[in-house]
Amino acid sequence: MPGIVLIGAQWGDEGKGKATDLIGTKVDYVARFNGGNNAGHSVVVGNESYALHLLPSGIINPHLTPVIGNGVVVDPEVLFEEIDGLEARGIDCSHLKVSEAAHIIAPYHRTLDKVTERFLGKHKIGTTGRGIGPAYADKINRVGIRVHDLFNADHLHDKVEASLHQKNQMLVKLYNRRPIDVDQTTEELLKLGERLKPYVANTGLILNKALDEGKTVLFEGAQATMLDVDHGTYPFVTSSNPTAGGACTGTGVGPTKITRVIGVSKAYVTRVGEGPFPTELFDESGEWLRQQGHEFGVTTGRPRRCGWFDAVVNRYASQVNGLTDIVLTKLDVLTGLKEIPICVAYDVDGERHDDMPTDQAAFAAAKPIYETMPGWDEDISNCHTFEELPATCQAYVKRLEELSNCRISAIGTGPQRDHIISVHSLID
Ligand code: GDP
Ligand code: IMO
Ligand code: MG
Repeated sequence: MPGIVLIGAQWGDEGKGKATDLIGTKVDYVARFNGGNNAGHSVVVGNESYALHLLPSGIINPHLTPVIGNGVVVDPEVLFEEIDGLEARGIDCSHLKVSEAAHIIAPYHRTLDKVTERFLGKHKIGTTGRGIGPAYADKINRVGIRVHDLFNADHLHDKVEASLHQKNQMLVKLYNRRPIDVDQTTEELLKLGERLKPYVANTGLILNKALDEGKTVLFEGAQATMLDVDHGTYPFVTSSNPTAGGACTGTGVGPTKITRVIGVSKAYVTRVGEGPFPTELFDESGEWLRQQGHEFGVTTGRPRRCGWFDAVVNRYASQVNGLTDIVLTKLDVLTGLKEIPICVAYDVDGERHDDMPTDQAAFAAAKPIYETMPGWDEDISNCHTFEELPATCQAYVKRLEELSNCRISAIGTGPQRDHIISVHSLID
């Protein structure tokens, strides 16, 4: 019953989409467990490139069953747009299963996301504006709308009324906006429910049965460890648990069913939105990484902030997620650098920290302590074994592995499916 969790080890956009697609060729189910359409996962197959936001990246593999778990927040309009877009390109989405307990992102969540960010001013988080935070806030406040609520008009009306009661007061009195109409919102949600219905299922039961029958399930995380609402750089985080534990709460599968936890890390680091980032580069090397790595957001198109590999972050990700393997991506991007700095520890007010400071004020003050490795000039995109990599490149990977407290089992050498070096198998 292999249950494999795949998560982002840094601040997102590590290449989880590509890694999921790759492993997806060998699994029976791929289940998203957190986040919503704030995610942007790119998958490149031959000449085709897919940008997935809400659908599991495994959907590109026709033999597997894609699942949206209860921990995901679902914007039905976005879901249908994504399904229509993929089906127009010949990808069958009819076998998609959506949890009846997943929470819905309603239009008012998107509105609230935007007005609260504006209201926060200099304290803003830099969200994707997709309504993620307000939808999860409603879930925790117990005024959320769940997928199964969309199938009962009276019940739904009641729920929307409860949810909008306080929001309308805030919209009118605090944000100077028009109130949102309960009847109209209920009507719109009922219509969306009609189209959603064929996909809706008891996904917890389906996944547990599959695991009991010896099938392989891949749990695909969105966002990343450092964006986790509990373990990340709070408050500059998303509103869900992208760490490995989220795979259990976000799908209804118990931790004893998880056999492997794979962390995806870039060979350097990027971040989108606000918040501290110790190895961020503000000089021409940051711009160089952005251009070489095409570091522009899949969801919002925003330029990503770029910096050197941060081993403190990776060690922390190994610890928080209980990583068994790392997939190291975008190693090819570093080709051409004379020297490559690696952050091995932080200096916080003159004190060395080898571990992640939990106090966010200390983390914000952290200065990277670097060691430097020699670079390489050779094109590595056609290397298919570790031994084919230039010696200095091998040494860089080995050093990252040592500093991360976890073995590196696959290495990305380009965006394509076959741009990968397999060091250890990821699924047995
Ligand atoms: P995700 O959010 O973690 O799925 O990552 P994104 O899809 O947002 O960003 C990763 C980007 O890097 C995508 O454009 C991928 O196609 C690309 N990518 C993934 N792995 C590699 C790699 O090993 N080398 C290069 N050059 N690009 C890669
Ligand atoms: P993938 O899955 C990178 C960031 C936003 C913002 C913060 C909160 O592609 O790695 P939210 O809209 O979630 O309330 O925004 O989280 N963020 C991401 N950054 N990759 C992502 O997803 C992200 N999803 C959210 O930029 O800083
Ligand atoms: Mg992304």
